[in-house]
Amino acid sequence: MPTPHISAEKGEFAPACLLPGDPKRAQVIAEELLTGAKLVTDVRGMLGFTGSYAGQEVSVMGTGMGIPSSSIYINELVADYGVERLIRVGSCGAIQDDVALRDLVIVAGASTDSAAPRNMFGFDGYAPVPDFALTSAIVAAAERASLTFHVGSVFTSDLFYGAVTPIEQIQQAGCIAIEMEAAGLFAVAARLKARAAAVLTVSDQILSNEHATSQERQDSFLDMARVALEALAADASASS
Ligand code: HPA
Repeated sequence: MPTPHISAEKGEFAPACLLPGDPKRAQVIAEELLTGAKLVTDVRGMLGFTGSYAGQEVSVMGTGMGIPSSSIYINELVADYGVERLIRVGSCGAIQDDVALRDLVIVAGASTDSAAPRNMFGFDGYAPVPDFALTSAIVAAAERASLTFHVGSVFTSDLFYGAVTPIEQIQQAGCIAIEMEAAGLFAVAARLKARAAAVLTVSDQILSNEHATSQERQDSFLDMARVALEALAADASASS
């Protein structure tokens, strides 16, 4: 039965799902990288597709931006459609000098100014972390693809504009990039006992004020999605 925000029938989502923020990116991933991809939901234009990669069923669905939007879809995918493994494939702003435009950031932890983890669990100080095995599989896939990557902690911000926390404080805490969804993904996955990870491409270098062009974003985005799909395939064969 469809949920309030997803019109797919039960069974139309695969147990593994990639999660870009942008629904158009979900469509590009489905068309360019999946075999036999079929549109399974389009409520509010938030497109979701199911196809296969390396002989394994995989879905891809947009989440929108920020924890409030993405957590709605993640909750319903896990609780109502039985999705067990989720990888966010998104973009981020780098806040360390050695993290360059188009590099990959493989998320090892996500600090946040969002109240979502506290509102979910009822205590302060929850540490949102990804699934270790899935994250290791992403690292191995990035190595195999010879892409430049950094494994580190990120800061999941509730605000794109006008946040008051100075970048220096976030840098001092060891975060290498800023984005807007990972902490919520990890918290929801923990609550619902799913496995989640996140890989990001650097679309903005905040310190040097450099920004990727739309063509660069598109190209590096597909490289990253391929890494995430390879990681899902390797993780599935490791655990079966
Ligand atoms: N801030 C937050 N999220 C982002 C950014 C940023 O600079 N770039 C890409 N996602």
